[in-house]
Amino acid sequence: MELKVDNGEGVDSWKEVTLIYNAALRQVQTKMEILNDEFQHVHQYNPIEHIKARIKTPESIVKKLKRHGYDSTIDNMVKYVNDIAGIRIICSFTSDIFRIADMIREQRDIKVIAVKDYITFPKASGYKSYHMIITVPVYLSDRKVDTKVEIQIRTVAMDFWASLEHKIHYKFEGDAPEHIKSELVECAKLVSDLDARMLSLNDEVLAIAREVGAAERNVV
Ligand code: GTP
Ligand code: MG
Repeated sequence: MELKVDNGEGVDSWKEVTLIYNAALRQVQTKMEILNDEFQHVHQYNPIEHIKARIKTPESIVKKLKRHGYDSTIDNMVKYVNDIAGIRIICSFTSDIFRIADMIREQRDIKVIAVKDYITFPKASGYKSYHMIITVPVYLSDRKVDTKVEIQIRTVAMDFWASLEHKIHYKFEGDAPEHIKSELVECAKLVSDLDARMLSLNDEVLAIAREVGAAERNVV
């Protein structure tokens, strides 16, 4: 990997980049775990199924910079590559996605830079997910670095679809046969249908549980 050192905005070496993005990732991951724990405490329910976090490999950073016509400098990667630190939040229901996104937005030290709502507006491929680019402050011994993190929020079913589609995309280098593409679109519809039915089933169960709870309280 070749990354020329430039006068970046406070970040001047690959080692430092890794350190800062790792710190940002850990902070966001901890924030999410705290929200999940608190939700469990208050509502006896976990909106987050699991969390995956990763730092983009140097090779893939260089590839992305090249694809966009930028030199491989620290400056350019910090400025133009928004997904060096990436976190994927997998939840059970579509409603959890928006709930989690709102909780992230409400955190005062988090700045939301961009949002792509592929839940409300899925991609033509069938891809669904809620994307946020945020910054989180990383405090070093002598300064604060606002660091970008890409957050992807999706349901278990959407994640299942996206990982298969990703594998297929790679296998065919982005040029999968038409029948495979249309089969994927069909599967995406099934995923959306499944998500909707699981959500309404869950809502129904919660309503019954509430009624039973209210009845029990009346008896006591
Ligand atoms: P890059 O794809 O990272 O260059 O970013 P972008 O500027 O196109 O942003 P976008 O928010 O659309 O996508 C960011 C990330 O979401 C990607 O790197 C993938 O991880 C994921 N993603 C976006 N579209 C798809 C898709 O059609 N299929 C799958 N499997 N993942 C996708
Ligand atoms: Mg990406």
